Amino acid sequence: MPETIESVAIQLTVNGKRRSLRVEPRTLLVEMLREHLDLTGTHVGCDTSYCGACTVLLNGAAVKSCTVLAVQADGAEITTVEGLEQNGQLHPIQKAFGEAYGLQCGYCTPGIMLSALQLLTRNQQPSEKEMRKAIAGNTCRCTGYQNVFKAIQLAAQIMKGA
Ligand code: FES
Ligand code: FES
Repeated sequence: MPETIESVAIQLTVNGKRRSLRVEPRTLLVEMLREHLDLTGTHVGCDTSYCGACTVLLNGAAVKSCTVLAVQADGAEITTVEGLEQNGQLHPIQKAFGEAYGLQCGYCTPGIMLSALQLLTRNQQPSEKEMRKAIAGNTCRCTGYQNVFKAIQLAAQIMKGA
């Protein structure tokens, strides 16, 4: 008879909301977000921790949520792409990606926007080299990145003016 796996109780804050749930110890953070909390804006693009489509903020730091166990996020604050919009207003990063055509198919975009948010929270005026480094873990197969950099620069301007 197969052994049953005991689920574990965890509590965390996701996009400002307290959440309590039970997960198996092997559940990945990305799985928990998508399948337990229905936050499907966090994408899965590989099974090798390469693509960065699954990037979220964990206590303000960009992490690949396919490389973090949900139980490791117990007590943490998580921000996903769904948490960027506030009171019906797009976040400056979301506005900038739209205005600067920083996306095509959009599959990579939630992850790139969260890497950009980590960067702009720490550095209001990043150089191109700093932007390249900030999104080095995010793969985009469509844009060639030039408009992504334009979008991050525009977001920086909007955030400074806000
Ligand atoms: S899904 Fe590709 S790095 Fe996480
Ligand atoms: S916009 Fe298609 S992968 Fe980046």
